[in-house]
Amino acid sequence: MANDLNGKTALVTGGSRGIGAQVCRTLAARGAAVAVHYASGEKEAAAVAAGINTAGGKAFTVQADISRHAEVVSMFAQFDAGLAKLGLPQGLDILVNNAGRGGGGPLGQTTEADFDAVFGLNVKGLLFVTQMAAERLRDEGRVVNISSATSRGAQAARLVYAASKWAVNGLTLSLAQELAPRRITVNAVAPGAVATDMIAAARQDKVFNDMVIGATAFKRFGEPQDIADVVGFLVGPQGGWVTAQVIEASGGLRL
Ligand SMILES: NC(=O)c1ccc[n+]([C@@H]2O[C@H](COP(=O)([O-])OP(=O)(O)OC[C@H]3O[C@@H](n4cnc5c(N)ncnc54)[C@H](OP(=O)(O)O)[C@@H]3O)[C@@H](O)[C@H]2O)c1
Repeated sequence: MANDLNGKTALVTGGSRGIGAQVCRTLAARGAAVAVHYASGEKEAAAVAAGINTAGGKAFTVQADISRHAEVVSMFAQFDAGLAKLGLPQGLDILVNNAGRGGGGPLGQTTEADFDAVFGLNVKGLLFVTQMAAERLRDEGRVVNISSATSRGAQAARLVYAASKWAVNGLTLSLAQELAPRRITVNAVAPGAVATDMIAAARQDKVFNDMVIGATAFKRFGEPQDIADVVGFLVGPQGGWVTAQVIEASGGLRL
């Protein structure tokens, strides 16, 4: 697969940490020029981009709080300028909508602020990033939305987060229909529990760890590379016939 993304340009939201950072490194190692998006992690995103550039790849950073539409507009201005600065053609081949957040608990403990924050990033943000990306995506481009295995069943303890990922799955289907005439694929990857900052606090709790390991057929947490590999398949030349799918990558959750 080395160099099979040569000449392609990718934008990865939430590329500063966790799953997104590993997606950036994976796509860059295969030859894609990568825009590493961050919200607050300027240093972390710069380190991801520097690592890629030092290894002989091409990367630059863009910043936005994606839950704010005006900042999405600004992010794409940064993206266009970043390509120009590197002497790359305008346009986009691969969008990975990875930025996401948790928040909220069971019904009785859910606040309006929780709902607005979670849906603002995971759903509204994803939609408007994709809207602006679609203007730039070349024919046969790729969109991958990072959903969650929580969207596969009931999640009373985290109902707003789970509902936001059900919404991501729904958007994935409609966007796949919308972009199909341009042979752009749109899919979602639904990870199980992955060892990142997002669940670092929960992992301090032995009950949580035992519950995840017990419910996972392969008896371990996922690693960011496990998810990056699935994204890598979908955005590569071998993935062109797969669209409108939600692919769970969880090591066999709740088999
Ligand atoms: N980890 C898991 O167990 C798991 C399981 C299923 C699905 N997922 C999904 O996988 C994706 C990545 O999760 P992760 O575990 O890698 O999370 P993470 O380590 O917590 O990283 C979250 C990323 O999202 C960015 N972000 C946060 N708020 C933002 C905002 N308002 N605007 C733009 N970007 C924002 C962060 O940017 P800054 O750091 O720069 O602020 C960071 O890059 C998410 O969509 C998550 O829902 C994760």
